[in-house]
Amino acid sequence: MDFNTLVPGKAGLAGIDADALLVVVLGAKVPSSIEGPIGSALAEAVAGGDFALKAGQLLYAHRVAGVKARRLAFVWAADVGAKAMRRAVTAGVALVKSGGASHLAVAVAGAPSPMDAAAAEALVLATHDATYVYRATKPSAPSAPKLERVTLVCAAAEQPDLAGGLLRGESIAAGVALARECANRPANHCTPTYLAEQAEKLGKSHGFKVEVLDRKDCERLGMGSFLSVAQGSDQPPKFIVMRWMGAGKDVAPLVLVGKGITFDTGGISIKPAAEMDEMKFDMGGAASVLGTLRAVAGAKARVNLIGLIPACENMPSGRAVKPGDVVKSLSGQTIEILNTDAEGRLILCDALTYAERFKPAAVVDIATLTGACVIALGHHRSGLFSTDEALAGELLAAGDTALDPAWRMPLDEEYDEALKSNFADMANVGPRAGGAITAAMFLKRFTAKLRWAHLDIAGTAWRSGANKGATGRPVPLLARWVLARAAEAGRGEKPPKPAGPRQASRATRTKKS
Ligand code: BES
Ligand code: MN
Ligand code: ZN
Repeated sequence: MDFNTLVPGKAGLAGIDADALLVVVLGAKVPSSIEGPIGSALAEAVAGGDFALKAGQLLYAHRVAGVKARRLAFVWAADVGAKAMRRAVTAGVALVKSGGASHLAVAVAGAPSPMDAAAAEALVLATHDATYVYRATKPSAPSAPKLERVTLVCAAAEQPDLAGGLLRGESIAAGVALARECANRPANHCTPTYLAEQAEKLGKSHGFKVEVLDRKDCERLGMGSFLSVAQGSDQPPKFIVMRWMGAGKDVAPLVLVGKGITFDTGGISIKPAAEMDEMKFDMGGAASVLGTLRAVAGAKARVNLIGLIPACENMPSGRAVKPGDVVKSLSGQTIEILNTDAEGRLILCDALTYAERFKPAAVVDIATLTGACVIALGHHRSGLFSTDEALAGELLAAGDTALDPAWRMPLDEEYDEALKSNFADMANVGPRAGGAITAAMFLKRFTAKLRWAHLDIAGTAWRSGANKGATGRPVPLLARWVLARAAEAGRGEKPPKPAGPRQASRATRTKKS
């Protein structure tokens, strides 16, 4: 799908050459800026009570005399901000997508202030979201709508800013789509090996190095905690390392760590049968790391970004780890595994220790970590935990602007008590109360040398029920954060040559397992 901007000519909106024109109407009265046949159609609809100037209003008109676009739709929006734009475009696209429109133009009428880049970004993300169809294992699914081009109609002064927003939106949307595709795939397709292959493919197409460590490599390193989760499964574990080097070699990288449990049965502490299928989404953190790398590399951002994905299945078997077993983590600390279903923290802790070797500027781990986080925050905000005030602030702000919000949760040392063990340096679970916090407290024990934040996305990575499926969150938050850091660092610096895909294939080194 292509996005562009357009400043209308003399004929105004009526002269716009597109299959469908979506007019986002703002304000409490018919905007005086819409003239001609479109203005009359709108005024008539409002006067006749067919279109009220308030939330949720949508009107479709076909072949309005004097209007070049065959399909004309009006949708009301509260303001010209990103959130209002997302809501309006989602409704508007749904209206035209079932038809044959392949070129949609979107115009805003009655805006008291100019649209900003974040709203343009939201328009792109909403369009992609509204047209996404999962087909990988469902060939009978209706084919995706044939929408090919979306044109944002704007004033000349707004054009450069909005064009930038559209461009950024396109790379973020591609990242969201990749994350959704990966996470939606069932666990018999999306195995640790599949995730590693996806990473390698992405490295080749987008110009970054990918290295895949296998079980032996991880044993040699001493990742006893990660491997204890993997040991019950017949699927070989993979530890994936991706490196986008868009800035100078000596610039400290950002590191993302994604939980890559491709299926979570709970292990010997097995989960109940109901809804266990949803544990195929337990690699949502890993998917968001892949998606963010795609977004950042696609934007050729001048930043160094490392993606780490410990990937394995959590299965019960004769070889599986048992409650009470004690394992030694890469950090040297020992862990008593009291509940094998608290496996996410066991694979993340070794990845966090591994992250130290990159001397990172900041590390963020992303995980569908606890059911308790869903109880605490529901499905709207991800849980954010951080020992670093500045980092927490950056991530919260990124989430707010990207419409992918998070909420800060506490890490008081009092919660640490819960992890005491008589047989190891720590237990992997505490009591039920405050479960999202004790999980984060467990991770915190592996981050003394890092600027660290943790995102618990158990409530936001996928939807249940009739519209079951991955959301692609928190790719928008993460991509926003990384791109903002890149822009910050790039200020006053002369532009380096970003690595293109050609250079990339030479640079891609893959360790075969
Ligand atoms: N993957 C789950 C977390 C989860 C549960 C996400 C439900 C989304 C919906 C995680 O591995 C897990 O099983 N966590 C346990 C931890 C408990 C044993 C301390 C949980 O939340 O019940
Ligand atoms: Mn689990
Ligand atoms: Zn899990």
